Amino acid sequence: MSDVQRALVLAKPDAVRRHLVGRIIARYEAKGLDVIALELRRVSVTLASQHYAEHVERPFYQSLIDFITSGPLVAMVIEGEHAIEAVRAINGATDGVKAAPGTLRGDFCVSNQQNLVHASDSPASAAREIALWFPDLR
Ligand code: PPS
Repeated sequence: MSDVQRALVLAKPDAVRRHLVGRIIARYEAKGLDVIALELRRVSVTLASQHYAEHVERPFYQSLIDFITSGPLVAMVIEGEHAIEAVRAINGATDGVKAAPGTLRGDFCVSNQQNLVHASDSPASAAREIALWFPDLR
């Protein structure tokens, strides 16, 4: 059944530092998904805290904030059929060591924090995250 969705994707600071942003976007586009918003930006601690609010009690929370604010990232909105699941399949498991070969994390990283990309994990989180990062997107 047709289910066109939107997902927020962050190509995190490690992706920018490692010059992997173009390859990351190319994988989503090759799958047939559309990039409908995109911005290179530095993230304030305020925005980072809002973005990661659900993880505030986790032991690595401060480390997450420090990392995501450590340099510019590329925020984007990806749209297409079942985009949330499709993007997460392309990204692979959170931990790059465990992520399957052929996925972005499986091919390009060995970390569970410096793991190149963040993607919305449900329609509810996509709606919240897109409103946070791209408030003017209609
Ligand atoms: S996920 O992707 O939400 O299902 O995975 P989760 O395990 O809940 O991880 C949420 C984010 O926390 C990061 N993470 C960690 N950072 C540092 N140390 C450890 N141990 C760790 N485990 C998970 C992980 O990269 C997720 O970041 P985002 O940006 O949400 O993908």
